[in-house]
Amino acid sequence: MTFRKSNCGCDIFRIFLVRFLFLQSKAKMGTLQNLLFTICIALRCVTSAVGVIHVTGYVGREVNVSCSYDEGYESYEKYLCKNDCGDSDVLVTTSESRKNKYRINDDKTARIFTTTISDLHSEDAGKYWCGVTRNGKDIYTEVELKLAQDSCCDTVTKIESYEGFSESIVCPYESRYQNNPKYICRGNRPSTCLQQALITSDNKQNGRFRLDDDKLLGTFTVNISSLTKNDSGSYLCGVKRNSELDVFSAVELKVKEWCCVKSIKIKGTVGQPLSLQCPYPPQHQDKGKFLCKGEQLNSCKDITNQSRFQLEGNGSFSSFSVVITKLEEADAGTYWCGSDSERRPGNYTKIQLSVGEMKTFK
Ligand SMILES: *[C@@H]1O[C@H](CO)[C@@H](O)[C@H](O)[C@H]1NC(C)=O
Ligand SMILES: *[C@@H]1O[C@H](CO)[C@@H](O)[C@H](O)[C@H]1NC(C)=O
Ligand SMILES: *[C@@H]1O[C@H](CO)[C@@H](O)[C@H](O)[C@H]1NC(C)=O
Ligand SMILES: *[C@@H]1O[C@H](CO)[C@@H](O)[C@H](O)[C@H]1NC(C)=O
Ligand SMILES: *[C@@H]1O[C@H](CO)[C@@H](O)[C@H](O)[C@H]1NC(C)=O
Ligand SMILES: *[C@@H]1O[C@H](CO)[C@@H](O)[C@H](O)[C@H]1NC(C)=O
Repeated sequence: MTFRKSNCGCDIFRIFLVRFLFLQSKAKMGTLQNLLFTICIALRCVTSAVGVIHVTGYVGREVNVSCSYDEGYESYEKYLCKNDCGDSDVLVTTSESRKNKYRINDDKTARIFTTTISDLHSEDAGKYWCGVTRNGKDIYTEVELKLAQDSCCDTVTKIESYEGFSESIVCPYESRYQNNPKYICRGNRPSTCLQQALITSDNKQNGRFRLDDDKLLGTFTVNISSLTKNDSGSYLCGVKRNSELDVFSAVELKVKEWCCVKSIKIKGTVGQPLSLQCPYPPQHQDKGKFLCKGEQLNSCKDITNQSRFQLEGNGSFSSFSVVITKLEEADAGTYWCGSDSERRPGNYTKIQLSVGEMKTFK
């Protein structure tokens, strides 16, 4: 453990280089420097044959740095170090597997040791080395740790829908991710999104959520049915990647209360006439008007053309009226009237009619 990284041939060569150059004429200097620099790089490569391992983590979360090693080194001590890997640069070793915010675990069967760095801060980004302690030179693998903010995204797609309706969240992705798993979660924390996914592409239907991946179009669609106000809020569409952070797009869903231009409670008397006012937006003057009865607008029964109910236009005031000439007890209930036969939410009047006996005359 005494000679860590300083055992690398590079440093010795660097000292040699400085002395050597001191003696050379300035004309030759550039070439020699290049040559020696190349030798130096080459020597270092011998000790880190695997190449650089790139790892990315989220600020505030943890990251796993996994390094493999060759057969025969199972029982050797492993460690993670920073900077030049001097003794004071060693962060954690398998001989003491927990230190500060570092944990190390050696999977001897897979021959991979994994260091977990928790509570990531911006200063944790940079170069690390995975080391295996040996007699003489240790074995090193370079690790580059990058950090990303645990939030998303600069652009947010806004969607509005209504209680009781269904809505599709359309998530576009790049064509190279055709075969990657897709998922969606609440909130806007990329680090926990997959773990808390409402639905993933492995599982097309989950309660009110359905996920369809259109690989040709490069979008996946999440259909949420029976929306409630609780469904309002932020969502992240995620595409899972293997060795890099997943890619996300952000959606803001607003579920509006289902009603209406107006909600009216009205009382009528058996045998008497009654007039109901149905306001509508001015731009709907030429649209078909309708009246229906039932607790839910989606399933209410159309009574527009029943002779007992007469619709009388009142275009100039943006309302029409429904006249019932002789009220019956059975007329009590919930009515909806509006000016849009497509029955989109919002442009309705909800009328709750109660019908009472006439008390004044006998
Ligand atoms: C790190 O590895 C551990 C053990 O396999 C796992 O439980 C944890 O979720 C991993 N953390 C991250 C951020 O991938
Ligand atoms: C969502 O799925 C339901 C049930 O399959 C379907 O009736 C509805 O039209 C879909 N909604 C949207 C917005 O695609
Ligand atoms: C809505 O969310 C709140 C808090 O998250 C919860 O207490 C409540 O039960 C939810 N309501 C419905 C109808 O799901
Ligand atoms: C009501 O009558 C009108 C005119 O006859 C017709 O155009 C309309 O389709 C009818 N509506 C319904 C719901 O039957
Ligand atoms: C038209 O509507 C207005 C406002 O609701 C009402 O005052 C007026 O009496 C209505 N006129 C007719 C002819 O129904
Ligand atoms: C009512 O209808 C008008 C015209 O179609 C539309 O612009 C408006 O958004 C609708 N209102 C609601 C609340 O849906």
